[in-house]
Amino acid sequence: MDIVKIGGSLLTDKTAYRKFFQKKASTIIQNLIHLEDFILVHGGGSFGHYISERYGLPGEISDERIRAASIVKYDMTDLNQKIVKMLNTRNRPSIGISPFFLHSHEDFNYDIVRKTIKNRIIPVLYGDVYFRDGFLDILSGDSIMVSLARIFKPRRTIFMSDVDGVYDRDPKKYRDATLMNTYSSESVSFGTISNDVTGGMELKFKSMIQCRDMGIKTYLINGNYPERIDTIGTKEFMGTEFV
Ligand code: ATP
Ligand code: IPE
Repeated sequence: MDIVKIGGSLLTDKTAYRKFFQKKASTIIQNLIHLEDFILVHGGGSFGHYISERYGLPGEISDERIRAASIVKYDMTDLNQKIVKMLNTRNRPSIGISPFFLHSHEDFNYDIVRKTIKNRIIPVLYGDVYFRDGFLDILSGDSIMVSLARIFKPRRTIFMSDVDGVYDRDPKKYRDATLMNTYSSESVSFGTISNDVTGGMELKFKSMIQCRDMGIKTYLINGNYPERIDTIGTKEFMGTEFV
C-alpha cells in the first residue's frame, strides 16, 4: 500500500480564495489511479488557509471563529468532493473522510479508514478544522500522513508539492538553491511562511522525516509532473528520497 498526499498548492491558487486548479488536479488523479492500493490525503490551499488566516484559526472558541470554522468546513468538504468525484468517475470508488468527525479524547480514531480499505474503497482524507477542548484547531494533511503511516505501515509515503523536492533553501526565493536527490540529515532552511496556517514546507519536511524514521520509503515529488511517481526507485527519479 502507498499513502499519497497532494499539497494544497497543487490543487488551488493559494493566493486566491477557493480558486481550484481543475485541470492540474485531474492530471494528478489520472496518474494515481493505476496505483494498486492507496490512501489519498490532500491539503486545503485557498479552500482552507484563506478564511482561517483571516479570522484567526486555529484559536480559542469564539462566535467569530465558529462562523469562520463552519465556512472552512464547508469549503474543505467541497474541495474534497471534487477529488472524490474524479476518482469515482475513473472507476476507483472512494469516500471523503474528515478528521473533524474522528477526534475524541485528545486523539484521532482512524478505524473508519481501516473499514473503508477493507471494503476496497479508497479513503480520501484532508486537512480540516476540529474541536479540541475549548479550541478550534486545524489538523494538517501532513500530520494525517504521519498518523496513517504509523497505523497502516505502507510500503511508501509520497508527498506531492509544487517544487521538485527538498532544496537547501527556498527555491522560489533563491535561484541558486540546490535540489537534494536524497535527504538524510543535512541542514535546510525554509524562510518565512505565507498563506499557510499549518506550517508550510517546514511541517511537511518534519512529517516526511517522521515517516522515514518509521522505516517507510518516503519521497517528495513535484505534482506538476505527476508522472514522476512512476520513476520512483529508477535512475530517472526526479525528486527527493528520504534515506
Ligand atoms: P502543504 O501546504 O500541505 O504544506 P503544499 O504543497 O501546499 O503543502 P507549501 O506549504 O506551499 O506546499 O510548501 C511548498 C513551498 O515551500 C514551495 O513552493 C517552496 O517555495 C517552499 N519552500 C521553502 N523552503 C523550501 C526548501 N528548503 N525546499 C523546498 N521548498 C521550500
Ligand atoms: C490545511 O491542510 C487545512 C485547513 C487550513 C483547513 P494542509 O495544511 O494539509 O493544507 P495545505 O497542503 O498546506 O494547503
